[in-house]
Amino acid sequence: MALVNGKFGRRFARIAERHAQCRRVSVPWGESFDLEAVAAAITEETALVTMVHNETSTGLVNPVSGVGRLADEADALFAVDGVTSIGGDVFCIDDWNVDVAVTDAQKALAAPPGISALYVTEAAAAAADGEAAPFYEDLDWHLRKAGDDQTPFTSAVPLFRAMAAALEAIEREGLPGRIRRHRRQAAAFREGFTAMGLELFPEPAGATVYSNTVTAVSLPGPVRAEPTAFFDAVEERNVSVSGGQGHLGGDIFRVSNMGGLGDEQILRGVRTVGAAMEDVSAAVDPAAGVAAARAVLEG
Ligand SMILES: Cc1ncc(COP(=O)(O)O)c(C=O)c1O
Repeated sequence: MALVNGKFGRRFARIAERHAQCRRVSVPWGESFDLEAVAAAITEETALVTMVHNETSTGLVNPVSGVGRLADEADALFAVDGVTSIGGDVFCIDDWNVDVAVTDAQKALAAPPGISALYVTEAAAAAADGEAAPFYEDLDWHLRKAGDDQTPFTSAVPLFRAMAAALEAIEREGLPGRIRRHRRQAAAFREGFTAMGLELFPEPAGATVYSNTVTAVSLPGPVRAEPTAFFDAVEERNVSVSGGQGHLGGDIFRVSNMGGLGDEQILRGVRTVGAAMEDVSAAVDPAAGVAAARAVLEG
């Protein structure tokens, strides 16, 4: 069973559909799952539940804890995409009954792209049939080799070294402080953008909350008519924001605060979005936005 409320939830479903019978539990992108509906959808036949923790396409943190409890009660395994949360937000493998957790180097861990990390419980490892997988993706083989600090085939050694350096940097900052910084900086983005007159895109409800690593903002109506002009105006200022993915292209923009950003870079992001909005004649108040973001960062 795959929970879908954004592009990466949908991708998880697409991956599952290549290998198994998969039922999707979907709500519109940017909306929240109703845990009662999820509970009702899990049956005795459900062997595995998949979910994205931080849905990067919409800027929501999904209720992994609640769904993990439901999967556990139903004796189903629980696989979670923690790609844009691990290293930037709280992720409790044991407390949340997670059996498989996956993350990438290049997001909140702030290492170069090219390698991923996978965590599996013994139950999940036992359920995998390595020999049925493509040769290089034989999980049993990877786990056997990992026991000796090895990989089954020649690995991307420079990327492992870079990942180690990134993890040492996280250790130096301290994970609790790093998570607090991500939360403060994401809150500054949210306050900054709303204070300048923009509207956040996602609609968190119940146990679902705004992301602490990526902020998704609706483009004002007039800007949607020609969104490229806004994105060009941002890029001209050497700042990088992303557009919407899939059907949200042209409707929203997204700003990340993953990794090692300083508060000044957050303020620059808010200031730049404000200036770019003014360039395309959107009715915003950039000064109010910067002041609100600064108040959060200094608070
Ligand atoms: C939640 C999530 N999962 C997975 C990925 C990996 O996707 P890709 O390898 O296409 O960058 C991303 C990247 O943005 C992501 O945000």
